[in-house]
Amino acid sequence: MQTIYYDLRDTKGQQKEIEDKISAAAKILREGGLVGIPTETVYGLGANGLDADAVKRIFEVKGRPQDNPLILHVTGPQWLPRYAREIPPVAYVLARKFWPGPLTLILKRQPCVPDATTAGLDTVGIRCPNHPVTLAIIREAGMAIAAPSANTSGRPSCTTAQDVLEDVGGRVDVVVDGGPCVVGVESTVLDLTCEPPRLLRPGGLPLEDMERLIGHIDVDRAVNVSLGPEERPGAPGMKYRHYAPKAPVTVVTGAPAASAKEIERRALPGSGVICFEEFAGLFSKQVVRSLGPTSDKQLQAQRVFEALRSFDSSSVTEIYAQCPDNRGLGLAIGNRLKKAAGFHVVEADSLRIVLGITGGTGAGKTSALNALRDLGGKVIDCDAVYHEVLTGSDAFKNAINEKFPGVFTADGQLNRKKLGQEVFAKRERLDQLNAIVFRFLLPELERRIQAAEGLYAIDAINLFESGLDRFCDCTIAVTAPTELRVKRIMARDSIPEAYARLRINAQKQDEYYRGKCGHELNNASESPEEFRKESRLFFERLIESIMEEKRHG
Ligand code: TXA
Ligand code: MG
Repeated sequence: MQTIYYDLRDTKGQQKEIEDKISAAAKILREGGLVGIPTETVYGLGANGLDADAVKRIFEVKGRPQDNPLILHVTGPQWLPRYAREIPPVAYVLARKFWPGPLTLILKRQPCVPDATTAGLDTVGIRCPNHPVTLAIIREAGMAIAAPSANTSGRPSCTTAQDVLEDVGGRVDVVVDGGPCVVGVESTVLDLTCEPPRLLRPGGLPLEDMERLIGHIDVDRAVNVSLGPEERPGAPGMKYRHYAPKAPVTVVTGAPAASAKEIERRALPGSGVICFEEFAGLFSKQVVRSLGPTSDKQLQAQRVFEALRSFDSSSVTEIYAQCPDNRGLGLAIGNRLKKAAGFHVVEADSLRIVLGITGGTGAGKTSALNALRDLGGKVIDCDAVYHEVLTGSDAFKNAINEKFPGVFTADGQLNRKKLGQEVFAKRERLDQLNAIVFRFLLPELERRIQAAEGLYAIDAINLFESGLDRFCDCTIAVTAPTELRVKRIMARDSIPEAYARLRINAQKQDEYYRGKCGHELNNASESPEEFRKESRLFFERLIESIMEEKRHG
């Protein structure tokens, strides 16, 4: 079969010619043919999604396992009811915000969607791609296009029309060139048939962006680990060894400097190395593909498949890849690399020490944290992260507003004082607030901790109640005699003695922190400067012993 090539990289040119090609591609689809189509994520291999025979041909051409369903591509949320039923309102909330874009929604299917498309499942994946050419083709065709990524099964996805021709040229009717894909990794797949929604495949739309809008999302285990033989991932496609170049891949996680060093230690001359730009110079004897700067995840996403693919035309016999942290697009990039490696992952031992610091007001946490800063440490201030996350998240605000009506002003600002008064007096109300805060904050804090390198302190009043203590190498209670605390907060906050005592009594007492923490830093000192010095000595000794333990244990 001769594959026709349509060059539609420039849609500002000859309008008539462009329209003709779009019509021709749509016609071929309507008649049951196969068309390679550009999207913002990766190239797709499209067929009429309602035509079982056409869809079966996709499976043949790709060599795709029969149990792996396809995504239907539509032009907008208004098409959802054609192919899905029992659509929860959250589907429209997400579609209105993120479509067209790299988000696939899993919903209950309508009977018109054939088994061939859904691989027999009662659900269907639907997305609206953000590419003008493909949107025009779908509109012109008048029906949803079923399209998996255009690669042959098992190979890295295609991010250029040339890749598509390389993989399936001669076996499809047309390949439409819409230029290189700007996102570079496939869409995020989100299951909305369960509560809370479930991330089945991380992709071009970051998890955090969705959580800010709709609140907590569960993450399918298959995203981060290789499943056992009897386990089933939410998305059937996640169980296959995808994206794989021919040479075996080893992914090295950890702080960039540490993972680069680990690869340097392991990679033989002539090996393939995928690394961040800053470290490319370390590998003069290897075949290097740079993903771009450590901080530029957008570029890394664009480059990851091309980097994996490029080794197939070289003679490397092993490949090492540096892995970005899990924040933002990093989750999807890391997942693609790990899948390419069949989850063969090595953790570079990054020198990360996380200290959990807690204690009541007026005990001296601030001075203790300053001492840590003196030692080059960084502080994750949970209260500050709380306000940052709250400011950017409608779902978070709504959850608080539901339980505490009226604590937000008309322009969406939190009235802290009012909320404080609500929870201050009643244990039960405080627990309710904390439950909401933990739900929205923990995933973000966890990502920040995992991305940290060097010495870190987590400053959290609810270190144990939130469960943050499990990320810490060691926990420290900052305590002080009550009378000293009273004096300190009276001076610090200019409040009368009675109020100072009330505040201290409303919090947990030193005994509680002492009982929970591995270490205690008692502040009986009259001057903050003196306590800062004492703390510095204390931390120096503590860090030394943690390092010792890490080295030997
Ligand atoms: O960005 C993308 O999503 C690209 C472009 C072409 O749109 N398409 C793509 O399709 O990546 P594919 O077939 O390579 O991956 C679809 C993934 C598979 O892991 C599949 O198992 C999952 O989505 N999936 C599709 N329908 C599903 C369903 N009803 N339930 C669970 N998972 C589903
Ligand atoms: Mg695929």
